[in-house]
Amino acid sequence: MTTTADELRDEVRRRYAESARAVMDGTGECGCGSGSCCADSDAEAEMFGEALYDAEQRGALPEAAVLASLGCGNPTAVAELREGETVLDLGSGGGIDVILSAKRVGPTGTAYGVDMTDEMLALARKNAREAGVTNVHFLKGVIEQIPLPADSVDVVISNCVINLSVDKPAVLTEIARVLKPGGRIGISDVVAENTLSPAERAERGSYVGCIAGALSEAEYEAGLEAAGFERVGVRFTHQVADGMHGAIVRAVKTSLPESRGLPVVQPSASAGCC
Ligand SMILES: C[S@@+](CC[C@H](N)C(=O)[O-])C[C@H]1O[C@@H](n2cnc3c(N)ncnc32)[C@H](O)[C@@H]1O
Repeated sequence: MTTTADELRDEVRRRYAESARAVMDGTGECGCGSGSCCADSDAEAEMFGEALYDAEQRGALPEAAVLASLGCGNPTAVAELREGETVLDLGSGGGIDVILSAKRVGPTGTAYGVDMTDEMLALARKNAREAGVTNVHFLKGVIEQIPLPADSVDVVISNCVINLSVDKPAVLTEIARVLKPGGRIGISDVVAENTLSPAERAERGSYVGCIAGALSEAEYEAGLEAAGFERVGVRFTHQVADGMHGAIVRAVKTSLPESRGLPVVQPSASAGCC
């Protein structure tokens, strides 16, 4: 029997609802050391979750936000965030990267988190209250249809979520839509070496465990370029399985139409104003 995209997304939602409930109840159960549902062993707990944040960042957060960390990197460490900017975290989970971003952009800036799982949204809102940050908004939605207007965001971050999407081209197109021209992305994700086929990726781990659905480096680069990004870079940071890595993905939304390969219409001298 084949699994449809809707069934796969429901499975992802169930898995992360369970993870959020475990953190809320204080049971910390997910079958893994750090509370990370991406990690299935103590060794893997070093590759995912709270271990990827430095002591200073962890110290500035409520314990539940740290425990709920399920990422495969630390996008706030690579995304250049400036005072007053608007940041969007895709698949914000327990809110760790939204809270850290909110502190970085300060009271004149705003940090949004989008997540499809009610339990995660409840956990993130609780964590933000406990952290005392008020310039945050957690929105319910799917990252394939981001619930924000076009050209409204300066920086998109995300931590170990795009590999879970059942429609990755839609996610990349949506990121381009919500970013302002010249807007940046700083994404942590699991990325496969180009030599691994989708079947070989699936042999190395499950879809809900952030492995089987990972894009390859070349697929990420081509997808971002097709969606209208330039200065695309994928950098492996640590191995999470044979031929698969935690990676930092960076890119900038093109600000000029010609750099997207579209013809630029030059106004003719006789066109007048109307
Ligand atoms: C591996 S966890 C990462 C959470 C968070 N980014 C972190 O670093 O702790 C994945 C999160 O993405 C959310 N998610 C997965 N697929 C999604 C989708 N298509 N749309 C919205 N949220 C999604 C899940 O509900 C979960 O909270």
